[in-house]
Amino acid sequence: MRPERLIARLTLAQASCLLIGVEIEKSPFYEGKAKRLFRAANNLILQEFKNSATAFNGQKKAEIEGKAEVNATMSAMIFQYLEDAEIKTHLVDFIPPRSHLIQQLKMIPLEVVVRNYAAGSYLKRAISKEGEKIRPPALEFFYKDDSLGDPMMDEAEILAKQIADASDMAELKKQALKINDVLTQMFSQVGLQLVDFKLEFGKNSEGQIVLADEISPDTCRLWNQESGEKLDKDRFRFDLGNLMDGYQEIFSRLKTIIQWKERR
Ligand code: TMP
Ligand code: ASP
Repeated sequence: MRPERLIARLTLAQASCLLIGVEIEKSPFYEGKAKRLFRAANNLILQEFKNSATAFNGQKKAEIEGKAEVNATMSAMIFQYLEDAEIKTHLVDFIPPRSHLIQQLKMIPLEVVVRNYAAGSYLKRAISKEGEKIRPPALEFFYKDDSLGDPMMDEAEILAKQIADASDMAELKKQALKINDVLTQMFSQVGLQLVDFKLEFGKNSEGQIVLADEISPDTCRLWNQESGEKLDKDRFRFDLGNLMDGYQEIFSRLKTIIQWKERR
């Protein structure tokens, strides 16, 4: 078959991978609420972002045109920025328009949440009011299991259940706080307040803990420093305004400070 015919039958991401010499499987081996994962050659994975937005453990759902592209691009920009600050990430390459080629990791089934200001589910547990500064930042862990609704988990239970050991926990905390420092100053340069965010990590073949998943306005709370306007996924969760207007505002500000080439 002529190469152009072959490419016409592939998805855009598959064709892009083929052009850089990486073959990927046709069907995803995993589909989550916001991403699909395809196996690729050389122990790599193609992580494709979806337009779906969900909240409250999938109870609220919508398809939002353009979200996948904007989040895939912003997340790649942020991972590149973190790599430049010597934080290891799973990102190998951005595959336009909405995919990342990533290293295969053994995932640690925890969501690591860092909070600089009181917001979201913290308000249900804490005595602080929304927007109150939290110093030192709060670090929380949630066990990733949709059937249980991702319950919060303390360190003793994480250790008891052997989800991570003590040295993993020390490393997760160290990396989460370093990422918080880097991202707080990055967003504040463009007038955005990093309220809180969620991280996921995995281990590479050498047993090192590496940042995985995504960092985007789906996984961070970002407020306009001047007006206090909420620009992140809370717009969707709580019907605060058009989601993509907030995401595009964050994206256009990030482009002013991150040198972004689509192919690295
Ligand atoms: P929370 O206040 O709802 O616990 O959320 C804390 C942060 O984690 C917030 O920035 C949104 C992000 N987050 C996710 O990325 N995925 C999730 O499933 C949840 C619940 C929160
Ligand atoms: N992503 C989560 C879900 O759909 C929750 C959230 O981000 O609020 O369930």
